[in-house]
Amino acid sequence: MKAVILYDSKTSGGSTEAIIDTIGLKLAESGAYVEKVKCKALADYSFIKEFDLVILGAPVYYFLVASQLLGALNYGNLKINLKRKKIAMFLTCGSSEAMAAVLYLPQLKIHLITNKILVEKIFPSNVLHENSIIDEFVIDVLQAYNNTSSQKALSAKWTDESREWLQTIPSFLQSKFKIMAEEYAENMGYKEITLEMLQLARDEMGGT
Ligand SMILES: Cc1cc2nc3c(=O)[nH]c(=O)nc-3n(C[C@H](O)[C@H](O)[C@H](O)COP(=O)(O)O)c2cc1C
Repeated sequence: MKAVILYDSKTSGGSTEAIIDTIGLKLAESGAYVEKVKCKALADYSFIKEFDLVILGAPVYYFLVASQLLGALNYGNLKINLKRKKIAMFLTCGSSEAMAAVLYLPQLKIHLITNKILVEKIFPSNVLHENSIIDEFVIDVLQAYNNTSSQKALSAKWTDESREWLQTIPSFLQSKFKIMAEEYAENMGYKEITLEMLQLARDEMGGT
């Protein structure tokens, strides 16, 4: 598995970088190939297609997730290159987990609604130096990654509703759409092709 940790922080050698280095080491110990890349809002993120897993990590400054990562999602080509990627994310912050889950994580997640988010984690200041919590994050990421990869081998089942919906589109498009939907389900680790999943797949295909 090839993983890239995309991060932002104003503090060289600060808490975010320390966590990233621990995550990177732990992933490498599990046999993964790992790179870390510091975000620049307008960098070219096409290199992401080389990676199986993307971990986004950043601190919060003045109520906002660090600006180069948010900028890359808002204005750069990061979001488009993250399409269909398996993603894990974490934030470091001074606030409590509960507050960060409401105020800060959505700043990233709003850009990633069509992605499979394997794990999301907040590291508040009081746990920043607890390696066991960082280890847990890595274990959760690896488990979720392996689960979606093994689900990939099984082909997703169409629900009755989505089968009926497929009949409503012009017949010459049905087989093409069926293949695309099944590929999407496989890539994203869906076990069932539901109407909701079809809507996500259509939004995404319409957006490319
Ligand atoms: C200038 C500044 C502003 C911050 N603003 C917030 C904030 O609005 N909310 C929060 O939860 N934490 C805030 N923090 C705490 C940081 O998110 C936290 O210390 C983080 O671990 C810093 O990461 P770094 O060492 O990589 O810079 C702030 C820290 C600094 C230095």
